[in-house]
Amino acid sequence: MRIKFVAGNWKMNGNLAANQVLLHALVEGLARVAGVKCAICAPFPYLAQVQQLLSGSGIGWGAQNVSQFDAGAYTGEVSGAMLVDFGCRYAIVGHSERRTLCSETSEIVAQKYAAALKAGLTPILCVGETLEQRDAGDTEAVVAAQLDAVLERSGALSFAHAVIAYEPVWAIGTGKTATPEQAQAVHAFIRAKLAAQDAVIAQNVQVLYGGSVKGSNATQLFGMPDIDGGLIGGASLDANEMLTICRAASAVN
Ligand code: 13P
Repeated sequence: MRIKFVAGNWKMNGNLAANQVLLHALVEGLARVAGVKCAICAPFPYLAQVQQLLSGSGIGWGAQNVSQFDAGAYTGEVSGAMLVDFGCRYAIVGHSERRTLCSETSEIVAQKYAAALKAGLTPILCVGETLEQRDAGDTEAVVAAQLDAVLERSGALSFAHAVIAYEPVWAIGTGKTATPEQAQAVHAFIRAKLAAQDAVIAQNVQVLYGGSVKGSNATQLFGMPDIDGGLIGGASLDANEMLTICRAASAVN
């Protein structure tokens, strides 16, 4: 059975003082929540702080991006090996904000996914369609193409060491959550697509939902058969919200 996984994506938010309060509250609160895996994906400069405050807590941590390159003259980039140096277990790759704002193509995302795996990290691969693409009936084609780029480079077996996050772009930061049925349909599509290559991998891979997940809608979303948890943006900055979401995940396990 797939265990539920809730990962916070802080995006470009936080500061040393606020992070400390938030992390302490999470460590304290999650100590009493069983049966759910949790992680925080923090901005690069705070990874040392996150490592210090989460070590030994059972909460994992990771980055929101990783370079596709190993080392060298790539000003401003951060390699997978550097993330491992700070105890990271995860790296988000292909978040829609990076695909859009930083022009990351599916090919670049596939390179980053491969680089994360090579460094020993678990990539959290984000896929998802825009509202225009959904309205045009292209959701499955868009998600399939995003997955294909990774499948072609790294193969289906690589998903034994990866997590997928379905994040419809129109639901991110908008307060408009996909309905549990809308999300479930795409999650089932993702799993079926992987199953066409490897049934066991497809059965075991965690597929998270992301996009305006809150304490108030988590239970319904996580109750769907192919939704294995969430990638949480805004609500992950609020300890009470994050704890409510993690409790919801624990309760449906
Ligand atoms: P929100 O939860 O703020 O909608 O963000 C979702 C997201 O992008 C997580 O990666």
